[in-house]
Amino acid sequence: MLTNKYVVAASVVGTVLGGGILLKDYRRSGNGPSKAMITGKTVIVTGANTGIGKETAMDLARRGGKVIMACRDMEKCENAAREVRGQTLNHNVYAKHLDLASTKSIKEFARSIRKEEEHVDILINNAAVMRCPHWKTEDNFEMQFGVNHLGHFLLTNLLLEKMKRSVNSRIINVSSLAHIAGEIDFDDLNWEKKKYNTKAAYCQSKLANVLFTNELAKRLQGTGVTTNSLHPGVADTELGRHTGMHKSTFSSTVLAPLFWFLVKSPKEAAQPSIYLAVNEELAGISGKYFNGLKEKEPAPQALDEETARRLWVESAKLVHLDDALKEFEAP
Ligand SMILES: NC(=O)c1ccc[n+]([C@@H]2O[C@H](COP(=O)([O-])OP(=O)(O)OC[C@H]3O[C@@H](n4cnc5c(N)ncnc54)[C@H](OP(=O)(O)O)[C@@H]3O)[C@@H](O)[C@H]2O)c1
Repeated sequence: MLTNKYVVAASVVGTVLGGGILLKDYRRSGNGPSKAMITGKTVIVTGANTGIGKETAMDLARRGGKVIMACRDMEKCENAAREVRGQTLNHNVYAKHLDLASTKSIKEFARSIRKEEEHVDILINNAAVMRCPHWKTEDNFEMQFGVNHLGHFLLTNLLLEKMKRSVNSRIINVSSLAHIAGEIDFDDLNWEKKKYNTKAAYCQSKLANVLFTNELAKRLQGTGVTTNSLHPGVADTELGRHTGMHKSTFSSTVLAPLFWFLVKSPKEAAQPSIYLAVNEELAGISGKYFNGLKEKEPAPQALDEETARRLWVESAKLVHLDDALKEFEAP
């Protein structure tokens, strides 16, 4: 089983090109995340019922954190949470409903977190949908832009108040190397005017993840909250479920043997998220893009400050951010 021909191709290009210019390797020792414990910290992982998200939740639970697995399908979520509790013996692991394709659900989730949690220390915006048909979210946003970017944009903003309550809290946005093929089309962010292109829509959403991170980092300066984005590597997960390549004979007999050395297990692909969430040497590091465990330069369009600022403004309008924040502040 191989995830997706397109993402694999992007990874091959990325690997050949070194995945962007290496800017910094912060690791002081060892090849992966440190052994840091996170006892007393509260973590939220979106899309945690499977793939990279589930492995991220598993590791952070092993480190003693309170882990909230935020998923749209409660049966899958409860099953995954039970598995994490069973394997880690951490009973502070909870399944909680969050459908990122619904601003109503995002607000309900955030309201309940704001009510029940003293603080949120680590937010991992991991969930995504890739190359689905031309679907719309409940609020009529194009599904990939809506879930991968707008949903996390709204969620993060509604949780910021709780994140600012802890010292050195961290927001991690799981993007993709696919952002290098992305363009932000401000005239038609939601694919209402042009012919739908499911690959381009995914790439736009993943570019939006990096731009959102950069603009958020600026806005969070001096608050103690940091944010970084990452490419986890190509992993054998359910992400390719809409591509036709997922579990196809071509994929398993031709592509998989050719690319086996590039394709990671979900556990391996979870290491960058875990690293950015726990490693001590990353305290204060913000607004950076990591390819795996190393800071790399993202694509030039991901570094454009005006695009990042404009994307923030347009996203805030689309999700009615000011109204949502006022609603939350009201007694
Ligand atoms: N796998 C790779 O090769 C690869 C490469 C680059 C980047 N990434 C990134 O890594 C992250 C994790 O992907 P993965 O490979 O682990 O994929 P995955 O196995 O398909 O997991 C995606 C998760 O997102 C959830 N999700 C989808 N739509 C949602 C919604 N509306 N509301 C809440 N949750 C929703 C899924 O829930 P359901 O199970 O209910 O659908 C699932 O839990 C994504 O951001 C992806 O873009 C992955």
